[in-house]
Amino acid sequence: MSVLITNIGELITNQPDGQAAGAAYAAIAAAALVIEDGQVAWTGPAARAPAADQAVDAGGRAVLPGFVDSHAHLVFAGERGAEFAARMAGQPYRAGGIRATVAATRRAGDDELRANLSRLAAEMLAQGTTTFECKSGYGLTVPDEARSVAIAAEFTVEVTYLGAHVVPPEFDGNEAGYVELVCGPMLDACAPRATWVDVFCERGAFGRDEAAAILAAGAAAGLRPRVHANQLGPGPGVQLAVQAGAASADHCTYTDDADVDALASSPTVATLLPGVEFSTRSPYPDARRLLDAGAVVALATDCNPGSCFTSSMPLCIALAVREMHMTTQEAVWAATAGGARALRRGDVGHLGVGARADLVMIDGPSHAYLAYRPGVPLVAGVWRAGERVAGAGPGS
Ligand code: NIG
Ligand code: FE
Repeated sequence: MSVLITNIGELITNQPDGQAAGAAYAAIAAAALVIEDGQVAWTGPAARAPAADQAVDAGGRAVLPGFVDSHAHLVFAGERGAEFAARMAGQPYRAGGIRATVAATRRAGDDELRANLSRLAAEMLAQGTTTFECKSGYGLTVPDEARSVAIAAEFTVEVTYLGAHVVPPEFDGNEAGYVELVCGPMLDACAPRATWVDVFCERGAFGRDEAAAILAAGAAAGLRPRVHANQLGPGPGVQLAVQAGAASADHCTYTDDADVDALASSPTVATLLPGVEFSTRSPYPDARRLLDAGAVVALATDCNPGSCFTSSMPLCIALAVREMHMTTQEAVWAATAGGARALRRGDVGHLGVGARADLVMIDGPSHAYLAYRPGVPLVAGVWRAGERVAGAGPGS
């Protein structure tokens, strides 16, 4: 069955006419789109739209590719609201807070972890996120990491093994022993259900050599690398990510000229997570410098109970525009096609013919409303693989 969505005020396709493989920012005014077999079958001016089995009137609203949230930590128990409040009262953010969530996660049953993830996944979908990545990293024992990865795999294909989140307390003073576990039995238990391997390469977490060893072990087990890099201070993470051929270096909050050059001259995406700087009251990454140098920039939430407990891609877009000086077009591209690039996905993040029909309709005539009306629930409809999964109101 085919569905025609017509009377679209602005359709963001990220797919310039006549450039089948491209995913640059592109938009069509007064547009229409046809969905067939879960895929985009046609886009163009509404006046030239073909007939379809069913029609949806968008009422002049904007339609975008569903958001691709390429960085989230959603398998956990407990919460750290008091830590957030203390931070807002002047305490600094420290990577060590992760251990509080590790303790709560180890105590939780599988059903509790599954229910928490299910609630967050529904929250994301209602805000227009149709693809998300999900990391382990709050278990940090072989069975707790294995179940984290297995539960994540029930909700997304983009599962990341993050045994190297922090060194857990039982390995205090024996970091080498923990790295051996992460590269050995823990990896063996997690690799079958994961796609990606990630390392928190940071002072207080894992150094360059440990991180390189973990990425190499992951690659040998068939996992593809991504890196938490240069979040809390300058460091080797970005260079390591580029050298390891990582799909993405995430955070990039403290980068020097060499880091920017390395990102600009490689396919490694710079994934910026401005919700973290907002929620930890830290300086924002220099998005303009990265973009102007030619790096590919993605935006993601980093949704986690510590450094940033938002699941909202629209919030991240608004922060990117207001605080990081990205244009509204750059921010929307980074939250859709950029996220897809960070996950090395060609089927999502754009609305070219043949793309998965993942769409978000917003209550406003243009993509700019996502930043222009911050904090307002603008999502009027969400389609995933051609099925309407949220917002039966306007345009139904
Ligand atoms: O991406 N950087 C490491 N991991 C998370 C923080 C997780 C936490 O504080 O629980 C992050 O910010
Ligand atoms: Fe993270």
